[in-house]
Amino acid sequence: MEALVAVSLLSTKKLNRRFGGVVAVKDIDFSLEQGEIRGIIGPNGAGKTTFVNLLSGRLASDSGQIVFRGVDITGQPAWKRARLGIAYTFQITSIYPGLTVFENVAIGAQMRSHQSSKSRPWTDWKTNLEEIVGSCLRMTGLDWSRTRLAAELAYGHQRLLEIAVNLAVDPVLFILDEPTQGLSVDEIREFTDLLRRIRSDRTIILIEHNLPFVMNLADRVTVMDQGGILAENDPKGIQVDARVKAAYLGE
Ligand SMILES: Nc1ncnc2c1ncn2[C@@H]1O[C@H](COP(=O)(O)OP(=O)(O)OP(=O)(O)O)[C@@H](O)[C@H]1O
Ligand SMILES: [Mg+2]
Repeated sequence: MEALVAVSLLSTKKLNRRFGGVVAVKDIDFSLEQGEIRGIIGPNGAGKTTFVNLLSGRLASDSGQIVFRGVDITGQPAWKRARLGIAYTFQITSIYPGLTVFENVAIGAQMRSHQSSKSRPWTDWKTNLEEIVGSCLRMTGLDWSRTRLAAELAYGHQRLLEIAVNLAVDPVLFILDEPTQGLSVDEIREFTDLLRRIRSDRTIILIEHNLPFVMNLADRVTVMDQGGILAENDPKGIQVDARVKAAYLGE
């Protein structure tokens, strides 16, 4: 029988990162539960992107500790963290414009961290790849575009393609940095539905300036300001928090 104690998927202790004289991330103690959608909000320059780059390993921390699934990953390079299940920060640059939609998602599928190491016949492997890519394309509504070049897709569809690639990698932790940037109202609505569909047994960190979007999706919200954590609560609690209002939400 499994223990009923909530074990955090990821935690940080006194995490720090500076750029010259700027302390971008300051003494952050953070804890994330398996399966939650965590919103991270805060003013420009608060340190949100730097913080998640420290988690994914894109940036090295100056001091402090990061533990993922019980393993100290503080000194590990990004590719090792990706193998453990932390998705690289969501970015438009993660897709290859000169490859087809299918090929882009196939690359993601080949990066799966939990691939069986047993050698399998080529035909099995190929069928498996078709299945994984097909299901990711259906889930993101991109099936129609499988033979198109990624470069030919409209912006909103390229962002869906990034999600499809990430789904194919099947990370334990998705980190999405301003995923709704540049999307239309309709596309944001579709994106919300998509995140709800893919959330089962996945953990998602969602950095956003679009507050209705993040308040609608997140289980908990962390507010950052000047490199530190200003407040942490469920979306309702955050919306009535006086310090948060003063620092970020305004009136
Ligand atoms: N590569 C870098 N070199 C120098 N300074 C940096 C670098 N990256 C971030 N900073 C500085 O660190 C601080 C935090 O920046 P960061 O990008 O993490 O903020 P953010 O919360 O993601 O902001 P935004 O909402 O605008 O994306 C800022 O003062 C920024 O200027
Ligand atoms: Mg940022």
